[in-house]
Amino acid sequence: MVKICCIGAGYVGGPTMAVIALKCPEIEVVVVDIAAPRINAWNSDHLPIYEPGLDDVVKQCRGKNLFFSIDVEKHVAEADIVFVSVNTPTKTQGLGAGKAADLTYWESAARMIADVSKTDKIVVEKSTVPVKTAEAIERILTHNRKGINFTILSNPEFLAEGTAIADLFKPDRVLIGGRETPEGQKAIQALKNVYAHWVPVDRILCTNLWSAELSKLAANAFLAQRISSVNAMSALCEATGADVSQVSHSIGTDSRIGPKFLNASVGFGGSCFQKDILNLVYICECNGLPEVANYWKQVIKVNDYQKNRFVNRVVSSMFNTVSGKKIAILGFAFKKDTGDTRETPAIDVCKGLLGDKAKLSIYDPQVSEDQITRDLAMKKFDWDHPAHLQPLSPTSNKQVSVVWDAYEAIKDAHGICIMTEWDEFKNLDYKKVHDSMQKPAFVFDGRNVVDVNKLREIGFIVYSIGKPL
Ligand code: NAD
Ligand code: UGA
Repeated sequence: MVKICCIGAGYVGGPTMAVIALKCPEIEVVVVDIAAPRINAWNSDHLPIYEPGLDDVVKQCRGKNLFFSIDVEKHVAEADIVFVSVNTPTKTQGLGAGKAADLTYWESAARMIADVSKTDKIVVEKSTVPVKTAEAIERILTHNRKGINFTILSNPEFLAEGTAIADLFKPDRVLIGGRETPEGQKAIQALKNVYAHWVPVDRILCTNLWSAELSKLAANAFLAQRISSVNAMSALCEATGADVSQVSHSIGTDSRIGPKFLNASVGFGGSCFQKDILNLVYICECNGLPEVANYWKQVIKVNDYQKNRFVNRVVSSMFNTVSGKKIAILGFAFKKDTGDTRETPAIDVCKGLLGDKAKLSIYDPQVSEDQITRDLAMKKFDWDHPAHLQPLSPTSNKQVSVVWDAYEAIKDAHGICIMTEWDEFKNLDYKKVHDSMQKPAFVFDGRNVVDVNKLREIGFIVYSIGKPL
């Protein structure tokens, strides 16, 4: 029986390994993590992450061939294939701070693998890492190796949160990079055999290590670049009377462009787009390619511009001040169908409005008060560095309240900001909403989910991204 161990029971490690276990009943899969509360949650009825379909997959295999454990060393030692799916955040200090990837967690995992291994292993980079990381990891693993062979593969993950299970069941492609040596090719084949249980072989792409590592950064950069491109257009739409949805549709029907990732928004969020582009920028700079670095940097700048533009629009529309005014924030997660708030644009928008002394009433169906309070108290880039977390007590910020119902958040508010495209925000009773608000009642739709004409008929003043005012 092939044994797989995955280090890191997060948004990637958990769902990915659950699907491997489901699709490969003869493989034993153990997901390990140093965070005991996370492992306890994976072993309970309340999984640590909200992801449609995940509960069902975990229930089908947990205790059969899928296990979650804090006994990291034991399970790494026993495994034939070790996936490393630890966090690789942006460095906050030292060389490359604010751009480079912090590989502390990766390096400590690699050192531990080297220390505890007694048999040959395939070590798989699942985390997103800078191109050439495998070279450094190889050096750590082969140091003091006592005759043990480690073969490194790069197998980046392309799932998106909110659709992780569907993405894993039917991936556009699985990418495996390895050394062009007989051992490298043999290891590629071994991992290919795992995925071939459910992924058509023509969708399993095999490349050299560096292409696989760089493809992951490139894919995220291209996806984010499309959003910044359409968001840049949204500003021009507002200035000219064009409608960004019509422009997106018109250009997306060109098969060379395609319709996906052209939804204008308040800005992209999530744990990876910004971090991976900054990482790419840093790699370009280190390789003496400032023009290339500046090109990609612009994607982040436009994203920041879009978030600022939104805040400015709210404040300027509401007679240039939101001081003391209640504003309802609908949605805090970085996209719908997840409770994840990492780099959510809601944080920047809330901080911007708080800076102008607004009173915020926040509602998200999947994000806890504690999480929102911590997010609003944290410095940029600190969210993925646990030692820096300094939770505020929920009552310490008098300008913010977190409620468990959209109507409660909206009652007596001067304005509503829609930050996440949760389906329930499309179907609110907007007549009732209007009646319960201060007048004039404003709606600022950062996700283009509401029917602008219908709301204007009710009496709202509506601002939607990239739509005629
Ligand atoms: P995460 O923070 O949710 O999970 C990482 C886990 O690794 C944490 O639970 C942490 O406790 C654990 N960990 C850290 N160091 C460890 C160690 N030495 N030993 C054992 N456990 C350790 O992160 P994530 O969102 O799952 O992302 C993981 C990687 O996958 C990142 O590189 C990310 O860029 C990449 N990625 C993420 C997504 C996504 O949608 N979140 C998608 C594709 C790729
Ligand atoms: C993204 C990629 O889509 C995944 O392929 C990748 O594996 C992952 O990053 C990663 O490396 O972490 P994710 O961040 O989970 O996945 O979610 P996306 O659907 O890509 O959305 C990212 C952000 O862009 C969200 O805030 C979303 O609302 C925003 N977005 C997306 C738009 O504003 N407009 C769009 O058209 C699409």
